[in-house]
Amino acid sequence: MTADPVKLMKQEVGKAAASRVTSGQIVGLGTGSTTAYAIQFLGDRLKSGELKDIVGIPTSFQAEVLAKEYGIPLTTLDACDRIDIAIDGADEVDPQKNLIKGGGAAHTREKVVDYLAQKFIVVVDGGKLVDRLGSSFLLPVEVIPMAIAPVMRALEGLGGKVQLRMGVKKAGPVVTDQGNLVVDVKFESLGDPVGLERKINNIPGVLENGLFVNCVDVVLIGEIKDGKPIVREM
Ligand code: 5RP
Repeated sequence: MTADPVKLMKQEVGKAAASRVTSGQIVGLGTGSTTAYAIQFLGDRLKSGELKDIVGIPTSFQAEVLAKEYGIPLTTLDACDRIDIAIDGADEVDPQKNLIKGGGAAHTREKVVDYLAQKFIVVVDGGKLVDRLGSSFLLPVEVIPMAIAPVMRALEGLGGKVQLRMGVKKAGPVVTDQGNLVVDVKFESLGDPVGLERKINNIPGVLENGLFVNCVDVVLIGEIKDGKPIVREM
């Protein structure tokens, strides 16, 4: 049986990011299937003794569960005054290293942790690269539940086509780790991510949107070359 190429790319890129963490660092632990491999490899490095004294700050319930499973000690933003490095996935990456995130509805906590990190490493497979944000992925926006109707109208006013994200294997909407709702918005043109990020976050009732602009230090891309997974830096 041939291994799934997307899984291979995610594994390799997760491993490459985890190998950049050094002993003693405070590490932001992102969310999603690619970062899950980075968390797993960090755990492996700790277990082998190659890496010592790291602590993780999880960006979601999922990241917290994985960190515990792989033996990574955790801390909180109350208990530490810096994050040395954060590793996180993305749903789209443009040539300026701007991102759309939030496919796992975790973008609010991810933004807090990733923006605080001295070094923010993004891990993606080659399928996430786009010329312009919004080409293939809708923009996630986290909204407090009592404001869902006016926020959806306001987003339509900005030119978006808005849909409430619904659960899978759960009747009703997706509820975030903060107890909020998520809408996914299609914009015809997402040519000014800086302006749009601000405009959306200025709508009362919006907690955070999935545009991550001018915050990424390194993008690691997993690809298949000559039938083998490789990692290149953007
Ligand atoms: C979660 C995210 C994820 O990082 C993003 O959806 C990428 O996930 P994956 O690595 O599974 O493709 O933003 O909110």
